[in-house]
Parts: sequence; C-alpha cells; structure tokens
Amino acid sequence: MHNRIYSIIFVAAIPFFSISCSKPVSFNKDVKPILVANCLICHDGSGEGSAASGFSVKTYNSLMQGTKYGSVIVPGSSVSSTLYRLIAHKVDPKIQMPPHHDEGLAKGREDELTPRQITTIEMWIDQGAKNN
Ligand code: HEC
Repeated sequence: MHNRIYSIIFVAAIPFFSISCSKPVSFNKDVKPILVANCLICHDGSGEGSAASGFSVKTYNSLMQGTKYGSVIVPGSSVSSTLYRLIAHKVDPKIQMPPHHDEGLAKGREDELTPRQITTIEMWIDQGAKNN
C-alpha cells in the first residue's frame, strides 16, 4: 500500500525534475534558428502572417512585442503563451502554426515543428524567454 503511494509521488515528480535539470536554452543559438526556418517566411514584418496579425519573428524585440493584440509569450509560462499553444497542437488545427491547411484561417503548407523543436521553445519560455 505504501509502496504504491510512493511510486505515484515519484511518477508525478518526474516532469518537474526533468525541467529543472535541463540545460539552459539559448535564444540566439537554439530558438531563433527554428523561427527563422519555419516562421520568418510569413512573419518577417511584411509577409502574409505579419500582414494579418502584425506578428514578426525578425528580432527578439518584435517577437516579444507579439501581435497587434498583444504579446504571445508569457516569460516563465509556456502553457499561458499563445505562441507555444499554436505550435504545440494545443489549438484547433485550423489555427495551428505553421499553418498547413488550405482551408484554415491562415493558409499554408508548412511542416509542423518536430517534437524536439517544440520542446526547445517550451523550455526557453519556461526558463524566462530571455534574450540569451
Ligand atoms: C504560411 C505562412 C505562415 C507561416 C509559415 C507561419 N505563420 Fe503564423 N500566421 C500566419 C497568418 C496568415 C496569421 C494570421 C492568422 C489570423 O489571424 O487569421 C498568423 C498568425 C500567427 C500568430 C498570431 C495568432 C493570434 O492568435 O493572434 C502567431 C503567434 C503566429 N502566427 C506564430 C507563428 C509561428 C511561431 C510560426 C512558425 C513556427 C508561424 N506562425 C508560421 C501565417 C504563417
């Protein structure tokens, strides 16, 4: 009986443990290349995505500024960050980023980010979304 309770506590602690042990993610080395390769084509300040949303991934400042409606990154909380929710399949596929539907709000045929790329961005936000 006791063993069972301990193993439940142990399993529940794993996600926290692995996040606190992961090495710091660099914006310039790790995150920016993902955004440049997958988002810049539409969110460069003048592309389709920027025209519709005002969102540009061109610089750290424009990224943090967010859309014309406000920021999409909440430093320290990936789950509260619109950007993370859009790339991590936590929204309706029709508004997912990068867009990969002809019939979605945003039209496009870009590939989804890989689980590794999604985790990198998630960890960077959870570590404070720093310009490091
Ligand atoms: C094929 C073009 C295209 C690509 C590639 C693309 N986007 Fe978008 N994005 C759009 C369009 C168009 C909109 C506006 C959609 C709307 O508001 O109807 C948009 C909107 C957004 C928004 C604002 C959503 C909101 O709720 O206001 C965010 C954040 C975003 N994109 C992030 C990204 C990220 C991060 C990537 C790369 C992983 C990316 N986009 C790749 C076209 C694109």
